[in-house]
Amino acid sequence: MSKIICVSDISTYAGQEVQIQGWVYNRTDKGKLCFLLVRDGTGFVQCVAFKGDLPEELFDQIMRIPQESSVIITGAVREDKRAPGIPGGYEVGIKDLKIVQAAEADYPMALKDHGVDFALDHRHLWLRMQSQWAILRVRATVMAATREWLDTNGFVEMSTPILTPAAAEGTTTLFETEYFDEGKAYLAQTGQLYNEANIFSFGKVYCFGPTFRAEKSKTRRHLTEFWMLEPEMAFCDLDGLMEIEEQMVTHIIQRVLRDRKPELVSLGRDLAKIESIKPPFPRISYDDAAKMLNDLYQKETDPEKKELLKFDWGIDFGAPHETAITQQFDKPVFVYGYPSAVKAFYMEPWPGRPEVCKSVDLLAPEGYGEICGGSERISDHNALLARIHKEGLPEEAFKWYLELRKYGSVPHSGFGMGVERVTAWLCGIEHIREAIPFPRTIKRVYP
Ligand code: 4AD
Ligand code: MG
Repeated sequence: MSKIICVSDISTYAGQEVQIQGWVYNRTDKGKLCFLLVRDGTGFVQCVAFKGDLPEELFDQIMRIPQESSVIITGAVREDKRAPGIPGGYEVGIKDLKIVQAAEADYPMALKDHGVDFALDHRHLWLRMQSQWAILRVRATVMAATREWLDTNGFVEMSTPILTPAAAEGTTTLFETEYFDEGKAYLAQTGQLYNEANIFSFGKVYCFGPTFRAEKSKTRRHLTEFWMLEPEMAFCDLDGLMEIEEQMVTHIIQRVLRDRKPELVSLGRDLAKIESIKPPFPRISYDDAAKMLNDLYQKETDPEKKELLKFDWGIDFGAPHETAITQQFDKPVFVYGYPSAVKAFYMEPWPGRPEVCKSVDLLAPEGYGEICGGSERISDHNALLARIHKEGLPEEAFKWYLELRKYGSVPHSGFGMGVERVTAWLCGIEHIREAIPFPRTIKRVYP
């Protein structure tokens, strides 16, 4: 029996007879030749049936095989530069084909354009499409590269709870649930507060898991359930934080370029735009970003675009502002020192400027905008208590969090990176809903 191989390894089997287990993605025929594009989870490969080589009955069966039928193919691998597929450049001359299950003929996600709602309703099948397969392979590599960098740089992975007693990132995006006799509990918007406890035992930690925001906004950057990576470091200030973000994001880009180039190419991604990204990333203050926006506003001649660029010091950036800023740079850019009023309660005030905080967002180029948000945290007990009161947050729920500032408090910092935002940017796709296997948005919890 010939060896069962992965399509991703096909180049190492040129000239050998192999077996491929997978699904028929597409079929085209040209007289005595029938081409099957077969996918096996690791890649896509062209398999060719030649009428003269096969028993008549088998050839006929191959000519009629429905899309998505599961098959086991035996054949010889040969190099052919023109052969389509991922990685491509090799094809299999079919010697035998066993149908595991012949798919029903009415496959809903036939290879043609579908409306977005139809595709989302059929997400369980849409996942099989080459574009979706490519995006989610990139996503998995983003996650693996993230862990790889943190694990080799002294960070300890901590799992933080998903059921939590209070809001951490604003009270307007909370999902709430009844919690036995304890009253209300909320799905975690962040694991950060717990990681601030963890650093006092482990120094450098991270959590990596699903995060929930009842976002009322319907934008191409927001999901209600997304995956966030959150590192937190003791004895780390705002500059140290930017260093770490820069190194980690650079590592993610390098690893994706090393391992997922065929996927990016299949998505039509302009590789030069990410290959050229090298540290250091520019660091600009919110004040300078505000000036930049005002200059762009002055220069803009299109009245509609001008209106979108309108900006007054003190407000948070909207998507058009972030887009305009990122278009001035060809790599990710740090914007630091936002007004405290538009950021979370736990951020350390700027020395001598209490209206500004030691926060930093990392904005991705090409208009993608915020991929990481972080800050130095308030390390003084009384200053933190005052902020909690000012925000009208329940002091009781934060008792444990305040206590961290009583026993060996240190300057500390951390950030959160949205996995789907990074994936969407690296893949060059329009909407982050394609960057997670089963997206949850304001209008969707099915399938
Ligand atoms: O800026 P955010 O809200 O920061 C925090 O939650 C901090 N507690 C993180 C920390 O310091 N440990 O979210 C961090 C990142 C954003 O930059 C963005 O990439 C992503 O999480 N994000 C979302 N991604 C998809 N859908 C949403 N609704 C998102 N909200 C935030
Ligand atoms: Mg943010």
